[in-house]
Amino acid sequence: MRDALHFLRNGKPVRVSDFDPDTTLLDYLRLRERKTGTKEGCNEGDCGACTVAVGRVVDGRLRYEPVNACIQLLGQIDGADVITVDDLAEGEVLHPVQQAMVDEHGSQCGFCTPGIVMSLFTLWHSGRAMDRADVNEFLSGNLCRCTGYRPIADAAIRAGRAKRNDALAKRFAETQKQITKLRNGEDLLVGDENRFFAAPASVPSLAALCAAHPDATILAGSTDVGLWITKQLRDLPKIIHVGRARGFGDIRKSATKLVIGAGATYAEAFDALSAIDPDLRTVLLRLGSRQVRASGTVGGNIANGSPIGDMPPMLIALGASLELNHGGKTRTLKLEDFFIDYGKQDRQPGELVAKIILPLPKAREHFRAYKISKRFDQDISAVMFALNATLSGTRIASARLACGGMAATPKRARHSEAALAGLDLGDEAGWQKAVAALEKDYAPISDMRASADYRMQTVKNLLVKALTELAGEVAGGAAALRVSGSRSGANGEARP
Ligand SMILES: Cc1cc2nc3c(=O)[nH]c(=O)nc-3n(C[C@H](O)[C@H](O)[C@H](O)COP(=O)(O)OP(=O)(O)OC[C@H]3O[C@@H](n4cnc5c(N)ncnc54)[C@H](O)[C@@H]3O)c2cc1C
Ligand code: FES
Ligand code: FES
Repeated sequence: MRDALHFLRNGKPVRVSDFDPDTTLLDYLRLRERKTGTKEGCNEGDCGACTVAVGRVVDGRLRYEPVNACIQLLGQIDGADVITVDDLAEGEVLHPVQQAMVDEHGSQCGFCTPGIVMSLFTLWHSGRAMDRADVNEFLSGNLCRCTGYRPIADAAIRAGRAKRNDALAKRFAETQKQITKLRNGEDLLVGDENRFFAAPASVPSLAALCAAHPDATILAGSTDVGLWITKQLRDLPKIIHVGRARGFGDIRKSATKLVIGAGATYAEAFDALSAIDPDLRTVLLRLGSRQVRASGTVGGNIANGSPIGDMPPMLIALGASLELNHGGKTRTLKLEDFFIDYGKQDRQPGELVAKIILPLPKAREHFRAYKISKRFDQDISAVMFALNATLSGTRIASARLACGGMAATPKRARHSEAALAGLDLGDEAGWQKAVAALEKDYAPISDMRASADYRMQTVKNLLVKALTELAGEVAGGAAALRVSGSRSGANGEARP
């Protein structure tokens, strides 16, 4: 058992053994290292001022992702390389990304600038083209209120033209070797049995520790838990991190199903989920920001039991089930049965959400998913809509329709599903029955995101939109019809 964190800071080994379990990475950097280039803005993962680059070896290759240091816990970076804005310049010479920000006047008050530079630094090292689409994606979690994004985007595109040969590029192979060495099979526990940060190295020891400490906080990406600390000022004396358990985030695809380990981040699961349907990809690109997707997990989005999480409605519509693990004893249940009521899930204290099992859609299944939120990027859904219709010619043989934001849990629309079953897509009067049935399925509430009336009307409209698209697809062939709203409304992209 190891009793200290081992990680790299800009390629140099660091060992930390004396820290409180709920210390954030940002507090460590600013208060302990006194590296104050990384800023604290919102302290809740929204503004990006605290962005740092965190490097890990994924699929045998060292990759750097932008991470919100304000909600990332220090213990999570065990085994990683952390680079901050203070590390970029080489002597008096600015990093090409920093220099481009100067040359393009990409900074005014400058508070957002360190985070923007770090997001662009991770993009610079991703090997991507750094065209406008890449830049928009990597800046989705960085707010700037002074400069306006055009000069920042211009700076990014300019930086993308520079030779990508900075200090990190030169030590890349060495850093990869060091990180690989840090990832040993030892369990990690810093603290004592009343107050600890633990990160077991295997699934059996993770499951055993969670079962032995049912009062501990299970921690995955910390994009929810981090806010309990920074916003609710909760004391979390016992934290068990799932991120080091080998295999807990594995993603495996067979001929019939996709199995996603609950520890897989959105970034890691992105390709496999996107391959299922273009709408899943579109929603994923709008889930949080690049930073949130780099840390947040699919398992966390389910385990938190939120009625407004983006993944559950889509996964329920696709017929997903869950594997849970309590001290090594596993059980499987349908995902929709996991959500019992508001704040209540079918999970014992100390029981892990272990795997999400997703049957691969068959050729006759047609999927549509729409996220409705006030902003295009980095915004929680007011309504999340997902329909999976099995077609037989122009007839809907069966349908699974699930929504978020419409009830105390992510919930199937059973009455509407029943009205859709057997419906001919040409029968528009029949559509209206399915639309009207939604009134029996849902009684949404009004809150700061949307009024109850808005939510109900929106879900009805989205069902009409989905049926219109399906009817168009059946009549005109694959890419036929995309009913597209404004960028701030439902997905604005064409289906390929
Ligand atoms: C700025 C910002 C934007 C966001 N935008 C979106 C958005 O657009 N859409 C959306 O759906 N969500 C959004 N979220 C919420 C959050 O990112 C997601 O819910 C995310 O999936 C949570 O995963 P995590 O790994 O970070 O979970 P954590 O914060 O680590 O944990 C969340 C909860 O799940 C429990 N838990 C985690 N993993 C397990 C497990 N394997 N077994 C048992 N319990 C477990 C934890 O104990 C905790 O109760 C946003 C959050 C932030 C900060
Ligand atoms: S301080 Fe705003 S995202 Fe961290
Ligand atoms: S320069 Fe002031 S917030 Fe971006």
